[in-house]
Amino acid sequence: MTSPTRLTVDALSRAFGGRQVVADVSLSIEAGEVMCLLGPSGCGKSTTLRMIAGVERPDQGQIRIDGVPVFGAGPTLPPEARGVGLMFQDFALFPHLTVAGNVAFGLKGDSAAKTRRVGELLEKVNLCGFAQKHPHELSGGEQQRVALARALAPRPRVMLMDEPFSGLDNRLRDGVRDATLALLKEEGAAVLLVTHEPDEAMRMADEIALMRAGEIVQRGAPYNIYNAPVDRAAAAFFSDINVIRGVSKGALTATPFGDFLTPGHADGTPVDIIIRPQHLKIDFDRAGRGPNPTVQDGTPARGTVARARFLGRESLVDFAMADGGLVLTASVPGVFLPKPGTALWLMIRRDRCFVFPAA
Ligand SMILES: Nc1ncnc2c1ncn2[C@@H]1O[C@H](COP(=O)(O)OP(=O)(O)O)[C@@H](O)[C@H]1O
Ligand SMILES: [Mg+2]
Repeated sequence: MTSPTRLTVDALSRAFGGRQVVADVSLSIEAGEVMCLLGPSGCGKSTTLRMIAGVERPDQGQIRIDGVPVFGAGPTLPPEARGVGLMFQDFALFPHLTVAGNVAFGLKGDSAAKTRRVGELLEKVNLCGFAQKHPHELSGGEQQRVALARALAPRPRVMLMDEPFSGLDNRLRDGVRDATLALLKEEGAAVLLVTHEPDEAMRMADEIALMRAGEIVQRGAPYNIYNAPVDRAAAAFFSDINVIRGVSKGALTATPFGDFLTPGHADGTPVDIIIRPQHLKIDFDRAGRGPNPTVQDGTPARGTVARARFLGRESLVDFAMADGGLVLTASVPGVFLPKPGTALWLMIRRDRCFVFPAA
């Protein structure tokens, strides 16, 4: 059984003062699916969301909700007629209304049905005893949950969320994210969640749409987008990266770790071999003899610890490599914190490298 497509956006564009802020953005989201629009600040995420919500007018494109055109192919529907739920960074509860009053705000119908729905949602967000309290009596996390309940109460077909967790402090955030995700899934809305934090997108999304300078540059499940980035910037958006610069010759590029296959790059093309810090493997020096690498490990290269930082779960170790000025950073389990000056050997997981034309 396939889920119905709830939101379809086709070639949406918007310019401000002659500057293209959203360019040709297309996406579709099914019922029960969470898509994260992920990108750096200023890349056009909020503008995209606001156009879908109906509070910003697109220059071009089409928007359909449950197959019904709400912009671009027929009359433009106002925000309140689109069947979307909204949740923004400052989730602005109504200060003069109780928690129950806030959640009931957008509900239509008889009061018994409203009361039932409000009770159901307060239970789902774990705020049963809070119905008669006012927003100022709640913590930030509790207010966030009220805002979520309020947005979900009218059973929106599409939930649009713009950085909804950024006002919460760090320690709270993961728990609130998980609880929010569980409730969104239970309610079955199609969700478009805007964030500039890759960790949040990885945690929440069924699919990530990676945005840069107004365009969607890559789209895919978190696993795929992390492990097969389209370019160097897409790789670098998700973690620190190491870059080994080389020149392709006969589909091979020489590095301190031996030759790398670089097919599809013409002879003489500078290439960047990209590796995430956790895919560098460390081994001991053994008086200069080094490790006995497996075939996958390739050729080991010797490096000297230039700096090591303990971050708790991991340590980040910078290595000055033996030949040239190359510095590589490895992420190793936090129990390991080598002293500067220590000679070690590094190996690269070749199946985890990305090769791109040099930036
Ligand atoms: N109403 C507006 N008028 C002029 N420029 C705007 C307006 N709204 C957004 N912008 C500009 O468009 C760009 C993208 O903004 P926005 O969509 O808010 O990005 P993001 O949410 O990804 O941080 C920014 O450079 C912003 O300054
Ligand atoms: Mg924004």
